[in-house]
Amino acid sequence: AVTRTFSIIKPDATRRNLTGAVTKMLEEAGLRVVASKRIRMSRGQAEGFYAVHKERPFYNDLCSFMTSGPVVVQVLEGEDAVKRNRDVMGATNPAEAAEGTIRKAYAESIEANSVHGSDSEDNAKIEIEFFFKPEEIVG
Ligand code: CMP
Repeated sequence: AVTRTFSIIKPDATRRNLTGAVTKMLEEAGLRVVASKRIRMSRGQAEGFYAVHKERPFYNDLCSFMTSGPVVVQVLEGEDAVKRNRDVMGATNPAEAAEGTIRKAYAESIEANSVHGSDSEDNAKIEIEFFFKPEEIVG
């Protein structure tokens, strides 16, 4: 089925002017950008967005990193969008990411790993609503 997922192009990628290169890989994987905006995440937004990780040792650094520069938040649409997006992103740790994936091509480290993508359909819905109003999504 055609579904939607949520994506973030992270500060390490925007800093290196890779917004287009990353988006091209998403599009070539069969995903369509149906909403997109470049924002500077607030500390509060980062902490709220990553609240599921708040007991993890990397939580504070992660929130600092995500507010360290611009990010591009996107809604992606396509056949089985969550899985399609996760496949083209590659493993969280770039050292484990497969050839041909975004993280293999561009990620600097497990933290500065260039992209975020929702890990389930349920989380995709929650994450899309965290950043977008319905009228900002044009399918
Ligand atoms: P993301 O998909 O944005 O979700 C949580 C992020 O935490 C993850 O990608 C990584 O960039 C970051 N992170 C930093 N350190 C770790 C770690 N040790 N294990 C998992 N994720 C980590």
